[in-house]
Amino acid sequence: MLIARTLEDLRRHCATLRGRFDSLALVPTMGALHDGHMALVRAATAHEAAVVTSIFVNPLQFGPTEDLARYPRDEAGDRAQLESQGCHLVWVPDLATMYPPGDATTINVEGPALRWEGDARPGHFRGVATVCAKLFGQVRPDRAYFGEKDWQQVQVVTRMVADLRLPLEIIGVPTVREADGLALSSRNRFIAVSERPQAARLFATLEATARRLAQGAAADPILDDARATLTREGFAVDYVALVDGPTLAPLAAARPLARLIAAARLGSVRLIDNVMV
Ligand code: PAJ
Repeated sequence: MLIARTLEDLRRHCATLRGRFDSLALVPTMGALHDGHMALVRAATAHEAAVVTSIFVNPLQFGPTEDLARYPRDEAGDRAQLESQGCHLVWVPDLATMYPPGDATTINVEGPALRWEGDARPGHFRGVATVCAKLFGQVRPDRAYFGEKDWQQVQVVTRMVADLRLPLEIIGVPTVREADGLALSSRNRFIAVSERPQAARLFATLEATARRLAQGAAADPILDDARATLTREGFAVDYVALVDGPTLAPLAAARPLARLIAAARLGSVRLIDNVMV
C-alpha cells in the first residue's frame, strides 16, 4: 500500500495507479477507521478500480463548541486496516496542504444542506463540501464513496458534484451496524457503558416508525410518537423527520424515496441515524 503526504507524492502515486488500473476510486475519511469505513473501501474496489483513501480531520467542518481536539486519531491502526482491505494508496495531507495561507474559497451548498444537520451544526456542510471539492481536485477520482449513515452528507455532496459538473460519480454505501443495530461510528467509544444498551433503541425506534409510516398515514402523529418513545428511552431528541431522500425536504406522508432521519443525544454523545421508508 502506497502512502502520500505531499501533493507531489500524491500526483506521482495516482499516475502510477492510473497506469495499472481501469479507474480510480476515492474514500474520504477523517480516520479512526472502523468496519463502516471498511465497507466503503471494499465497495470502492469494484470496477477494477485503484482505491485511494484520504485521512484528514477537517477543522472547517467542526463548530466552535465541537471538540476538534477530542477527535480520535490512530494513523497506524488505520493504515493496518486499510492495507488488509486492499486499499492501494492512503492520502494523508497536512493542514497547510488543505488550507494553504491565502486560501479564500469555500463552497456553500444550499438545498439539501439547509435543514437538520445544517441547522444543528452551522457551517458543517460548508466544511464538508469544501474539503470534498479539494479532495476531488487533488485525487481526480472516477468515483467517490460515502456512507448512508450520514444520509444528508451524501445528498449534499451529490448536489455539489451535479451543480459544479464535477467529473465523478458519488456512490452511497449502506450503513454498517453492530449486532444490536447501533450504527458504527467513531463517536460510539464515548457512549457510557451503562447507556450502551439504550443506544440501540435509536435504530429500533426508527425501524418501527418506518414500518408505520410505510402504510401511508399522516406522518406528524407517528413522528410525535417516535420522539416521545426516544425521550422515554433517555434520549434528548434533536429531530426525527420524514424527508424526501435526495432533497431532505420534509414530507407529510411516505412516498417513493422517502427517508426517516433522526439525531438525538445520549449523555454527551450525539447520535445520528436514518432508515429507508
Ligand atoms: P468520517 O466520519 O470519517 O466518515 C467517513 C465515511 O465513512 C463517511 O462517508 C461516512 O458516512 C462513512 N461511515 C461512517 N460510519 C459508517 C457506517 N457505520 N456505515 C457506513 N459508512 C459509514 O464523514 C466524514 O468522515 C467527513 O465528513 C468527510 C466526508 C471525510 C469529509 O471530511
